[in-house]
Amino acid sequence: MARIIAGIGTSHTPAIGAAVDNGKTEDAYWTPLFKGYEPAKAWMAEAKPDVVIMVYNDHVNAFDFKIIPTFAIGCADEFPIADEGWGARPVPIVKGYPEFAAHLVQSLVLDEFDITIVNEMQVDHGLTTPMSLLFGSPKAWPTRVIPLAVNVIQYPAPTGNRCYNLGKAIKRAVDSWDEDLNVVIFGTGGMSHQIQGPRAGLVNTEFDTAFLDGLTRDPEALAKIPPLTYLRDAGNEAIELVMWLIMRGALGDKVDEVYRIYHVPASSTAVGGIILETREYHEQHKARSAA
Ligand SMILES: [Fe+2]
Repeated sequence: MARIIAGIGTSHTPAIGAAVDNGKTEDAYWTPLFKGYEPAKAWMAEAKPDVVIMVYNDHVNAFDFKIIPTFAIGCADEFPIADEGWGARPVPIVKGYPEFAAHLVQSLVLDEFDITIVNEMQVDHGLTTPMSLLFGSPKAWPTRVIPLAVNVIQYPAPTGNRCYNLGKAIKRAVDSWDEDLNVVIFGTGGMSHQIQGPRAGLVNTEFDTAFLDGLTRDPEALAKIPPLTYLRDAGNEAIELVMWLIMRGALGDKVDEVYRIYHVPASSTAVGGIILETREYHEQHKARSAA
């Protein structure tokens, strides 16, 4: 049986990917951030997931304004890297898992979540920045990836509660796949930030800290935050945080936080990262470490 072993919440700020690609990770500006992610990379190197479900949003690269799916799952063999205006990032092509992705779609649709099937898609920084942060710069990514794109670009984005419940349905879908796979699910985007208008540069550390705390302790309360509260309190683009609730919903009731970073600023955003192990994986991990 496949199982979700952990969830990662992380910002996907494009400037982070650019810093990696342009050899700036050891510049003074970037050192705290990249050093701060080292424990997360070490965790990932040990966890070695077979599959990553990457919940992210496309930034008008794969989808333009002609078609905007609320939830879309990439079912292709592979996903080329999008050119976002300055050439495609020099990172490996992303390998998918069509059979497992098709199972997720089937399970979710029959579970009353209407998912758009995407058989051909490029992926942008929303997906590749988290890959770089957690997997570094390998010649080929060490895991297959199933992209789950969420519309948080064009009003209306799905509510946090809808996202949280979708996460629970993803857990049911993964649990019902009869193959021995360890799965890590990402929720990406955020944290507080606004990139345009008179409030550009807005950061709300209090909001972000409460969100990180709530992920572990009380996700039900986070799921009740109305969409406009994200925009009002944490900036226009903070609505991306609803994607972290998909990740959290997929982990079950009890989780153990094993890593956290919070860093301001990266570009004009507040960057947050968190690793939440499922209680089951955490207990097994402790037992293994003790042996
Ligand atoms: Fe984004």
